[in-house]
Amino acid sequence: MPKSGTTAPPRKNPTKSAGTSSATKNSSKPSAPAAPATPAAAPSGSALEIKDTRTNKTYTVPITDDAIRAPDLKKIKTDDPDDLGLVSYDPAFLNTASCRSAITFIDGDKGILRYRGYPIEQLAEGATFLEVAWLLRHGELPTQQEYDQFVHDVTYHTYVHENFRKFLEGFRYDAHPMAMLNSSIAGLASFYPTSRNIFDETERNISIIRLLAKTPTIAAFSYRHVKGLPFVYPDNRLSYVENFLSMIARMSESKYEANPIFTRALEILFILHADHEQNASTNAVRSVGSSHVDPFSAVSAGVAALFGPLHGGANEQVLRMITEIGNVRNVPKFIESVKSGQGGRLMGFGHRVYKSYDPRAKIVKKLADEVFKVVGVDKDLEIALELERIALSEEYFTSRKLYPNVDFYTGLIYRSMAFPMDFFTVLFAIARMAGWLAQWEEMLLDKEQKIARPRQIYIGPTERQFRSKLSRAGIA
Ligand code: ACO
Repeated sequence: MPKSGTTAPPRKNPTKSAGTSSATKNSSKPSAPAAPATPAAAPSGSALEIKDTRTNKTYTVPITDDAIRAPDLKKIKTDDPDDLGLVSYDPAFLNTASCRSAITFIDGDKGILRYRGYPIEQLAEGATFLEVAWLLRHGELPTQQEYDQFVHDVTYHTYVHENFRKFLEGFRYDAHPMAMLNSSIAGLASFYPTSRNIFDETERNISIIRLLAKTPTIAAFSYRHVKGLPFVYPDNRLSYVENFLSMIARMSESKYEANPIFTRALEILFILHADHEQNASTNAVRSVGSSHVDPFSAVSAGVAALFGPLHGGANEQVLRMITEIGNVRNVPKFIESVKSGQGGRLMGFGHRVYKSYDPRAKIVKKLADEVFKVVGVDKDLEIALELERIALSEEYFTSRKLYPNVDFYTGLIYRSMAFPMDFFTVLFAIARMAGWLAQWEEMLLDKEQKIARPRQIYIGPTERQFRSKLSRAGIA
């Protein structure tokens, strides 16, 4: 964990370790304003001494930013000529940093989340979602002029090609909106073939604008498709969030008037979900993007990863779980079933990084109170509160450091705003698009990054002779 305080940079100044494999040079990559800080000299004397008991040899591996570089372990090998050197084994990346990033900082033990140094609480309180999207990408808050231009650009790219109507109409009436969103975002690549020029800054810029602008439109069209309602085209007079709500809910009125409490609540939820450093979906975007595919294809991988119930799909699962519990009286029994392993996981609880509390969950809980003041208390809130109360007092959960995550209460808010359960993760995806794009661009412009290609530890058979088990007669 970083040793610095809350106002200091999260880790020591990023440095490049001396004597390690040097950064890959790729002359086709332009320098980037938002790329990670330039590596400086390594502090002398920071090193790890490793003794290999197989050979009794000792190795010195430089430590930089509280990390060793896994390629440095390659030099640790036996005399066996087939030995390719030591690898680090870390399924699910429990303790492996895959990049140096200047975008989002999390201190999971202290419950801290900051975008580009700004505490999430302050951004949720005072920023707009597009201001945050700009910040994530560019590293600084936009000036008024930059913001106005950005809002204009995003607003004027909200329309999708008319062929999208046909594309979406091809889906079944009961298609999951995340499945529709995933394939539609990937499909955008076919409409913008020049987006493959990812090292052209102008192309990158327009692709990023298009993705921020069109994702809410595609999401809303998917919603209307499932409902059997006519698509509502974007209304450029409205703000980003209002326009989205208009495309979701407008019927015959000429201008949609959103409930300001809902608009602000959704804006805050978008801000809270905008980025979360190297989570599963962002890792998917970076990994797919590292092949230098176009950004539409790269971020569609993020949508796919987000769909899973252990990630963004958890908000939907929380509501399904609460619905299944049915009554506050059944909560103790349900908790017992989770503890015994019979009832699955307590959805909306636990986090790979947050081990004291999820700061987003705190904000969401407060937000839920504000929304419920308008629409009335959600009937399942009582169950959620009781789940939280019991879980926070049970040794099973406290000893494993399982606390409510951002998804625990978001579902209740979304439902009170009349969004259907299977649409919850789509709302998450609209917001996370800002983070995926910032992370994708940072990865592309990071001269140290190459195609993501992990190693493996092979545990299958050694060489053996092919002897078919099929009847030869059955083979054409
Ligand atoms: N309910 C009950 N037990 C849990 C839960 C849970 N929600 N989460 C973890 N545990 C238990 C595990 O069974 C394990 O127990 P064990 O040590 O006895 O085997 C221990 O806690 C550690 O769990 P891991 O799976 O190793 O934790 P990991 O960091 O890999 O998983 C995750 C994190 C996926 C979020 C997990 O806590 C989980 O499945 N939570 C429920 C799903 C959820 O809410 N996901 C949303 C995450 S936030 C987001 O993506 C926006």
